[in-house]
Amino acid sequence: MSDTILVTGGAGFIGSNFILQRMEADSCAIVNLDKLTYAGNLRNLESVASHPRYEFVQGDIGDSRLIRQLFEKYRPTAVVHFAAESHVDRSIRGPADFIATNIDGTFALLEETRAYWGSLDERQKARFRLLHVSTDEVYGSLGPGDPPFAENTQYAPNSPYAASKAASDHLVRAYHHTYGLPALTTNCSNNYGRFQFPEKLIPLMILNAKEGKPLPVYGDGKNVRDWLYVEDHCTAIATVLQKGRPGETYNIGGWNEKPNIEIVQMICDLVDEMAPGRASSRRELITFVKDRPGHDRRYAMDARKIERELGWRPKETFESGIRKTVHWYLEHEDWVRDVTSGSYRQWIATHYSV
Ligand code: NAD
Ligand code: TYD
Repeated sequence: MSDTILVTGGAGFIGSNFILQRMEADSCAIVNLDKLTYAGNLRNLESVASHPRYEFVQGDIGDSRLIRQLFEKYRPTAVVHFAAESHVDRSIRGPADFIATNIDGTFALLEETRAYWGSLDERQKARFRLLHVSTDEVYGSLGPGDPPFAENTQYAPNSPYAASKAASDHLVRAYHHTYGLPALTTNCSNNYGRFQFPEKLIPLMILNAKEGKPLPVYGDGKNVRDWLYVEDHCTAIATVLQKGRPGETYNIGGWNEKPNIEIVQMICDLVDEMAPGRASSRRELITFVKDRPGHDRRYAMDARKIERELGWRPKETFESGIRKTVHWYLEHEDWVRDVTSGSYRQWIATHYSV
């Protein structure tokens, strides 16, 4: 029997990179279930849309009936669960969707997965995996001298987004411990790369810099994030799916902590280099704006367990990854035009006007 992976949220940033990478690297079939919220974009997957090993289904992870039908029809050997509301700033303005998708939706998906898994024969049961994709934000915020987050760091989520992801992590853990569901959880640091929706720091700054618009840096710009190139995250997920031990969690990070201001300055310099023609440096567009409420100061990941046990380490350096990313956004004006219409413009106008 060949592998069939049910991917949730595969039209989003990381999910679409994962699907494209796996379609090329593996012989598995992929069923992509995505609700197509503002963050989902089928354009990302145009190159595989009519591939015989790929199927797209529009729907909600909270729709138990639909999930049941998908399990019956496709008989997947694994579920990789990306679907989530994922933007911290949106979770601050309106947490309800985060509770509905990240908590209730994950619960519905777990219930249907448990029922399906329970119906498999022993050999299929032993082979089946559910991989839950989560975030470093569940661990809260670090001080400047604190050691990075390890798998046994206590959860201390600070934003509604982080709290909803923490709740989903706990549910996944409970389904393993209580029912024996062969579930794995990965907690990853900030990703960057192609297809990221331009309300997140890196694409927002690239596009604003290109267009000569202000570059809104929250607070003093010294908040630190640990940045990982999205393709490295996708190979880490594939590695955990293949070799991880059910019931375990694995922290994934880039070993690349940087303050926001440094990221923004690097982007300015790269845009100056790749899109010359402005009289002054894009750095002059940097504007310090009101801080995000409850803004976590520092995230850093201790990714030694996944390296020690599964042999995964990031391949891309930040210098090469950010260069590729800036280049991609500058070269894909059509994609950008598509995703920055309507509701996106409204979000930017509301969020940055206060
Ligand atoms: P994204 O917002 O770009 O994509 C989320 C996708 O899920 C979209 O395609 C959306 O349409 C879909 N979706 C939302 N609600 C749904 C629902 N109820 N049913 C079905 N589909 C639904 O997010 P992303 O950045 O690709 O993140 C993917 C996952 O990785 C999330 O679980 C997130 O918490 C986690 N994560 C992200 C990062 C990061 O830096 N982006 C870092 C660590 C972990
Ligand atoms: P973001 O991309 O929203 O990811 P997260 O909140 O999940 O880390 O933000 C990354 C960092 O950049 C975070 O410290 C907030 C900051 N930031 C700004 O300074 N300005 C902005 O316009 C945005 C969107 C983020």
